Amino acid sequence: MEGISELSKTVDLCAKDEIENGSVRKFVVDGHEIAVVRIEDDFYAIGDRCSHANYSLSEGEVWAEEKELECWKHGSTFSLVTGKPTCLPATKAVPVYDMVVKGGRVLVVID
Ligand code: FES
Repeated sequence: MEGISELSKTVDLCAKDEIENGSVRKFVVDGHEIAVVRIEDDFYAIGDRCSHANYSLSEGEVWAEEKELECWKHGSTFSLVTGKPTCLPATKAVPVYDMVVKGGRVLVVID
C-alpha cells in the first residue's frame, strides 16, 4: 500500500455496516485503544484515551459537521483529522490512525 511503511500493519476491524453513520466504536488492537468514527462513508480513527484525564473518547459524542469527537468528561473536542484538541481543558493531541475501507470492510493501519 502506497505511503504505508513496511513497519506498519493493516488490521481488519469489522464490516462497514457495523458502524452506523455518525457513531463511534471502540476497538483494541495490539494494545492500541482506538476510537473509530463513521461520518457518511468516511471512517476516522483516533486514540481512544482523552489526553486530559484518560477517559474513553468513544463514550463521547460525534460532531459530524466539525469532524470532531467530544470527550464526555470535560468537553474537549478532538479533530478526527489531526487528533488535536480544539478546546480546553485538553491541550495535547491524541494519536491518529490511517484507515482503509476495502471490500465492505474497515481496516486500521497500526505502526
Ligand atoms: S478527560 Fe477528556 S476533557 Fe477531561
